[in-house]
Amino acid sequence: VLLPVILCGGSGTRLWPLSREKHPKQLLMLGGDNHTMLQSTALRITCDAMPDGWKLEHPLVVGQEECRFMTAEQLRQVDMTASRILLEPVGRNTAPALTLAALAAVEDGNDPVLVAMPADHVMLHPEVFCETLAQGLPLAMAGRVMTFGIVPTAPETGYGYIRCGKPINATPAQEIMSFVEKPDIETARRYVADGNYLWNSGIFMMKASTWLKQMDRFRPDILAACMMAMAQSTTDHDFTRIDKEAFVDCPSDSIDYAVMERLVSADEDAIGAVLSLDAGWSDVGAWSALWEIGDKDKEGNVLAGDVLAMDTRNSLVRAENRMVACIGMDDTVVVETADAVLVAHRDHLHLVKDAVAQLKSAG
Ligand code: GDD
Ligand code: MG
Repeated sequence: VLLPVILCGGSGTRLWPLSREKHPKQLLMLGGDNHTMLQSTALRITCDAMPDGWKLEHPLVVGQEECRFMTAEQLRQVDMTASRILLEPVGRNTAPALTLAALAAVEDGNDPVLVAMPADHVMLHPEVFCETLAQGLPLAMAGRVMTFGIVPTAPETGYGYIRCGKPINATPAQEIMSFVEKPDIETARRYVADGNYLWNSGIFMMKASTWLKQMDRFRPDILAACMMAMAQSTTDHDFTRIDKEAFVDCPSDSIDYAVMERLVSADEDAIGAVLSLDAGWSDVGAWSALWEIGDKDKEGNVLAGDVLAMDTRNSLVRAENRMVACIGMDDTVVVETADAVLVAHRDHLHLVKDAVAQLKSAG
């Protein structure tokens, strides 16, 4: 049994002002396909794509309590029923989120293979993604933690980097020599020039029991907090509300720092593995990425909404509520929403999240 786990709890501050606490980017329509990021993620793996003998479960979604109605409604709109929706009262990053999912998955004595999928990616060729998953299934069954690597095109510092090692017995997978999460720019440049590194796509696949074992090994504190919060959770309909009192005490950490980096450097039984993924993956974490993947006019502009662009090139202009006119602007991002407007140079978009932090602390 394969159980997709959709991680859908971040707030996506780099896409401010469109992405907000109550409207995080996973629940917005950002790609060109009229689906929200959550919907596209849920539709990505189909039953036909499963190898013989494998059963595909409805996805288990881990998201924020605050967004529960939108989450359920968006799945309903695409005829998807979640097998379960786990609601986190507070965000504790991805390691606890996946641990809650794994605990839910083993509750009735099963041990499915989990595919942890962030809900903030675009995948142009889902069929290729499914083929790659299928290649990884036997390895996951054998107790491996599978990662999916993307050939890097730039020294991005917001990604994890995987150094590929030797092929694993007649499979397309490779051992992982090192895993470095979010390196500094110098290091990222070296990795890209080296040619032997892949970006971590942020998608992971392993048996639920394999994940729980790694948590027990590297972050027993997080595992214990999640077990406590899960034991005290309440379920009504498809929603499982994770107990707040127990979960606020859970340390916050990502899958990458909590497990992947340590797993690879501990290495004694080399259980990490990487498959190269060539499925038109892109992370739409920031406005720069949305400009890159967007449909451009002949001036290189990505325009959305009621926008007039005059003598403007290589810019992204998005109007949600009002008419926006841009004159004589190059390499600019303008995002207009009802209560906030972003105007930024394309080279400075990495500062958006800092701006959000400042605005927040200013109240
Ligand atoms: N349920 C839940 N709870 N989901 C969460 C939480 C949480 O507290 N925090 C984040 N998520 C979800 C986000 O919505 C997103 O879909 C996914 O988990 C990944 O989290 P990000 O915060 O976007 O991670 P990242 O982009 O910084 O880094 C990860 O992805 C990169 C590729 O996009 C890492 O895995 C990197 O190594 C990787 O390169
Ligand atoms: Mg991300």
